[in-house]
Amino acid sequence: MDLLENVFVLLHLLGMAAIVGSAVFVARGRATPALVWGARAQLVTGLVLVGIVESGDEPVNHAKIGVKLVVAIAVAACAEIAAAKARKGEGERPQLVTVAGGLAVLNAAIAVLWTSAS
Ligand code: HEM
Repeated sequence: MDLLENVFVLLHLLGMAAIVGSAVFVARGRATPALVWGARAQLVTGLVLVGIVESGDEPVNHAKIGVKLVVAIAVAACAEIAAAKARKGEGERPQLVTVAGGLAVLNAAIAVLWTSAS
């Protein structure tokens, strides 16, 4: 189970890298496939991780998970809307892309800095 958990943590970190790398560092203002798929991947890998951690002995901080889930849904919504507008030829939505990148950084900060186990 440990290996499985570690593999999903790796996928979770790669998803974060795709979002932040694309939105903040590489393609600022453009809703790239990396941004959209990274945002989708965070929801899937995050929920799988909750299941894996829940099945082990470590306590799960449900408040923290709940906040991260809401933030991740907002990231995915921003990415999906920006990508859909661009696909339909309705122009780029750079603000939405920036918000998606910023919220992903916020979620990484919550993941690392919110340390209480309650
Ligand atoms: C943009 C979205 C997200 C980002 C950037 C993000 C970022 C991170 C990071 C950086 C870690 C590693 C923390 C560490 O190992 O110290 C982590 C762990 C974790 N994340 Fe996320 N996360 C996101 C979304 C989610 C969602 C939606 C869920 C679940 C609903 C979730 C559940 C978890 C869990 C359970 C862990 C702990 C894994 C473990 O220690 O075994 N994450 N996240």
